[in-house]
Amino acid sequence: MKATTQVAIIGAGPAGLFLGHLLGLEGIDSIIVENRSREYVEHRVRAGVLEQGTVDLMVQTGVADRLQREGLVHHGIELRFNGVGHRIPLSDLAGGRSITIYGQQEVVKDLIAARLAGGRDIRFEVEDVQLSGIAGKRPSIRFAEAASATTVDCDFIAGCDGFHGIARGAIPDGVLSHYDYDFPFAWLGILAAVAPSANELVYARHERGFALHSLRSPTVSRLYLQVDPGTEVSDWPDDRIWEELRVRLATRDGWVLRDGPVIEKNVAAMRSFVVEPMQFGRLFLAGDAAHIVPATGAKGLNLAVADVYVLARAIAAWYRTGSSTLLDAYSETCLKRVWRAQEFSNYMSAMLHRYPGTDPFRDRLQVARLEAVSTGEEAARALATNYVGLPLP
Ligand code: APR
Ligand code: PHB
Repeated sequence: MKATTQVAIIGAGPAGLFLGHLLGLEGIDSIIVENRSREYVEHRVRAGVLEQGTVDLMVQTGVADRLQREGLVHHGIELRFNGVGHRIPLSDLAGGRSITIYGQQEVVKDLIAARLAGGRDIRFEVEDVQLSGIAGKRPSIRFAEAASATTVDCDFIAGCDGFHGIARGAIPDGVLSHYDYDFPFAWLGILAAVAPSANELVYARHERGFALHSLRSPTVSRLYLQVDPGTEVSDWPDDRIWEELRVRLATRDGWVLRDGPVIEKNVAAMRSFVVEPMQFGRLFLAGDAAHIVPATGAKGLNLAVADVYVLARAIAAWYRTGSSTLLDAYSETCLKRVWRAQEFSNYMSAMLHRYPGTDPFRDRLQVARLEAVSTGEEAARALATNYVGLPLP
């Protein structure tokens, strides 16, 4: 089978779906090909903090009905160390901007629903996606679907297929520079059917390791524990998780962590990764396909959205005017934000986690940094500005 479109998008995560949505609003045709099932991508539990800019974009582009009903707007976060909590008033410090708690898979569900309602092409469970002709003016993708092969000719390909995708690998050897760092720890995350024990997110530093208390709704809590890399979910029965969370999140004034049935459990590596540039010929990489940040800054999803916002505008300008100025600037524009987010996520990670071995000097530095943020206006403002997210370019 042969088909044509303007933009072929690989991957139906937030990056690919948001790109398809923004292009559609510009009257630009696209196809999205995804190797997992719709059911799978709609239920994959990931992060859940939306920056102000991400929320604004969803509102402005008409996909925020449920977000505005169910999303929880937060104006602060808590940093907890030495058994004492310190509130960072994000909105006061960052010009009234806030964050919204709304699960990534809810964003994915809303974007898929909008795409299907608009009658736009999206294929799930495709196999063996391949790219060709990316150095020329008429690239194409090829994929297998229900035992038949389809080739789609297009003007541009967007590689939105995540860290483990295939698009990045289609770029010839020697073009990309890779920057990466694997943190010496991972996160064990749970979703629990229990009302959150705090109204705002709690980032806790403890001698036994970092812990995070987050939430998804008034009846669902999301919690994380720092664990060793290579940890298996089976190493951590539910009771052990709650016990450890209670120790790491404990306060001197007797704060109580409510526990409840664990509905989901997973372990995620903590890594930093960037490729430069984010483009080769007519192939543009966006989101996790081009960069990963450690989850401590809650930036992954928001960076993916910022990338495709820049890309959609650049592609639209190309169709409207024939000028490739914005497309040529895509990588540089995105990478500025990516490296800022990378720096912020590394700053947060280094401040809050326990590193292997005993290092009393590092321990003191961590506490000094936490105190600077908790008691000093300037450091707190920098954290708040980054946390709520820089305005979209
Ligand atoms: N062919 C087609 N689809 C693929 C392929 C492939 N070969 N490889 C991967 N995919 C799909 C994945 O199944 C996934 O649905 O591409 C999608 C990539 O989505 P994400 O991994 O969610 O990445 P992205 O859209 O960039 O979202 C940004 O922010 O919170 C962070 O890491 C988190 O996923 C999040 C990311
Ligand atoms: C989440 O709620 O999943 C979450 C919150 C904050 C983070 C990371 C993840 O920094």
